[in-house]
Formats: sequence, structure tokens, C-alpha cells
Amino acid sequence: MRILVTGGAGYIGSHTALELLAKQHDICILDNFRNSSPECLRRIEKLSGHHFSQITADVSDSEAMEGHLDAYRPDAVIHFAGLKAVGESAEKPVEYYDVNVSGTINLLRAMDRSGCRKIIFSSSATVYGRPEYLPFDENHPCAPENVYGRTKHMAEKIIQDWQGARSDSSAVLLRYFNPVGAHDSAEIGEDPTDTPNNLLPYVSQVAIGRRDRVSIFGADYETRDGTGMRDYIHVVDLARAHVAALELADRHQGTETINVGTGAGHTVREMIDAFSRASGRDIPYVVTDRRPGDIATSIADPSKAYKLMGWKAERTLDEMCTSTWAWQQRNPNGFRGPGHSNPTKNDVRQG
Ligand code: NAD
Ligand code: UFG
Repeated sequence: MRILVTGGAGYIGSHTALELLAKQHDICILDNFRNSSPECLRRIEKLSGHHFSQITADVSDSEAMEGHLDAYRPDAVIHFAGLKAVGESAEKPVEYYDVNVSGTINLLRAMDRSGCRKIIFSSSATVYGRPEYLPFDENHPCAPENVYGRTKHMAEKIIQDWQGARSDSSAVLLRYFNPVGAHDSAEIGEDPTDTPNNLLPYVSQVAIGRRDRVSIFGADYETRDGTGMRDYIHVVDLARAHVAALELADRHQGTETINVGTGAGHTVREMIDAFSRASGRDIPYVVTDRRPGDIATSIADPSKAYKLMGWKAERTLDEMCTSTWAWQQRNPNGFRGPGHSNPTKNDVRQG
């Protein structure tokens, strides 16, 4: 298949691109490098041994999106491009709605023009909000508590309505739980440009000595050790869920919403311990106040993913930590190193 991967230079998109290339798909990565680096695309080419089309563009630019889809004519789109920082979304709500919601509308309009009828969308467990019961299944009510979550929920609804109006189309809305880990090669991984918001990248930077200690945001939750519990999923498992979703979209018309998690939870303390074991380093921490908006526990019921797509997570917590550590050690500054360049908007390279 010809697959347009928006946001394919980012953390989850880059791992998915490698899985798609391994399956001999023809891909085109469209990204504006707002939160990623062209160096990542060079590494994907090197690791996969394949060249692919690359477009530097912004999903907020409706006209450019139409032009790029007209030119590439994808059979399917995987839509990762978006802004994802919960805290920042409260400070810059209009920007978040613009990129995450209007960007999705621009993409759907461009798909209509070019005749593309399949979309896989990156949604988030954050759309559920506070749990009424656990684990979260896909029928759990959605009441997102932050701007980011609302943009994802709105984009889900827009895609669902787009699909409902086109009987020959399909949409798979993937609700990710907590992606962590890195590729086995240690050549690609999560590369936060600023202070990490998420737990594991922060822990990893403490282990390597870039930061002094981890702050545990609250130890008085109703969990087995009082710290927050999440369903961490290895990014390679998550990437493979996209390949399975593409296969589902290819054989089935309609919209499916699917959780992507493991079904198991780990607390903050357990994550710190696991990372300490994997890295062989002490990881100092301090318990601080709860982070506003956090919930005690978030765990997926992943059974629908297995039933519909035959997909389930396979990698262990140790693999999540050892791969993160290998990536961190080999790339202490992420993708930023000598030779890093910033391309201009709307550069196009057809591979
Ligand atoms: P990421 O920031 O690493 O990747 C997103 C990519 O989109 C980046 O390469 C960025 O440069 C690009 N991008 C951002 N704005 C763009 C724009 N206007 N035009 C074109 N490209 C743009 O994030 P990620 O962790 O890989 O997340 C991918 C998707 O999955 C996002 O939509 C995110 O909301 C969603 N998601 C992520 C998580 C998580 O914990 N990482 C959890 C649930 C959902
Ligand atoms: N935590 C700390 N210290 C830190 C960072 C996090 O104690 O420095 C705790 C949090 O309180 C929480 C757990 O570690 O209990 C996980 O926090 P993350 O920030 O790593 O992840 P969240 O579950 O809060 O949110 C993540 C993404 C969201 C996404 C959600 C569900 O940031 O964008 O997973 O997929 F929506």
C-alpha cells in the first residue's frame, strides 16, 4: 500500500515507519519537525535500507496538504502529526485546536480530493478522563479533563462523521495508553526537546546524570504503593498495532475505536525500580505534591484489539526499560548532534 504517515519523524511515527517498511509498504513521511528532527528520517532509511518520500509541511496549511495528497495519492493515511503536551495545551489552547482539530479537518479534505478512504488516527487514553470503572474499555464514557484530551476527542468525532458519510471508507481510532521504550537498534527513540513531561524519559535523564532526581507526583493515591499506576506499552508493540490496524482498515468498512495497551499496570515506584535494575544506576527521587489533573490509575482493557486485529502487546517491562536505557546511552543528546539542520517549510523530496 501507499501510506502517508503524518508526524512520521516523531517518536511513535518513526517506529511505525520502520515496521511499515519492513512489510514492504511504500511510505511518505510528512512532518514539520516541530517536535522532531530530520536526522530521525536519515536513521529510518539507514536501518530499513529503503528510501521513501519525505515532505516538510504543516498539517495546518490546508492548501499545501491538498497539493501533497494530490501528488502522492496515498491508499491510506496514518495521522500522528499533532501536539501532545497536556500542560502546554492549557496555555496554548487555540494552537492545540488548530493543529490537532483543524489539522485533521485539512487532512480529511485533502483525502477526499485525492480519493483516499482509509485513516488510522493517533488518539489517547486521556479521552476517557476520570475512570468510572477499570480497566477502561472502549465503551467507557469519554470526559476528557484537559484541552489536549478534548482536541483528541473532537478529532475522533470528526473522523467518525467523515467515515459515516462515505460507505466505502474505513477509520481506526487507536487510543494509546503510555508508550515507552525504543527501537532494538538504539538508533531511534523518544527525544524530548525540553524538560520531559513524561515519567520514563525523565527517569532516564536522571539515570544518565542530566537531572538530579525524579519527583514522584504524589504517594497518597489508592494504588498498591500510593503512587500513580499506568499501562505502559513498548513503542515497538504500539508500532505493530498500526500495521494491524492498517490491515483491518483494508478489509473492513466502518469506524473502529480500539485501545492499545497491555492490560497491566505499574506504579511510579515500580517504574523507577525497574529502570534502576535495567541501567544498573541509582535513581534518586523525592515525593512531591500530586500533579493537577492526574488520576490514580489508568489501565486498558486491550481485548478488542486482539479480537478485531489479532494484535496483543508482547514486550515486557524490562524490555521497555533496557531499550530506553540503550537509546539514552547511545544518544545522550537525542538526535541533536553535529550536522543537525532545520529544513524550510514545504520542502519536498520524493523518494
Ligand atoms: P511526537 O511529538 O514525537 O510526534 C509528533 C510529530 O508530529 C512530530 O514529528 C512533530 O514534529 C509533528 N508535528 C507536530 N505538529 C505538526 C504540524 N502542525 N504539521 C506537521 N507535523 C507536525 O509525538 P508522539 O509521541 O510520537 O505522538 C504521536 C501522536 O500520538 C500524537 O498525535 C500524540 O498526540 C499521540 N499520542 C501520544 C502519546 C504519547 O504518550 N506519546 C499518547 C497518546 C497519544
Ligand atoms: N509522574 C511522576 N513524575 C514525573 C512524571 C510523571 O511521578 O516526573 C507520574 C504521573 O503522576 C503519573 C505517571 O508518572 O502517575 C505517568 O505520568 P506521564 O506523564 O508519563 O503519563 P500520563 O499518564 O500522565 O500521560 C501520558 C501522556 C498523555 C497521554 C496519556 C495516555 O502524557 O499525553 O499518557 O496515553 F494522553
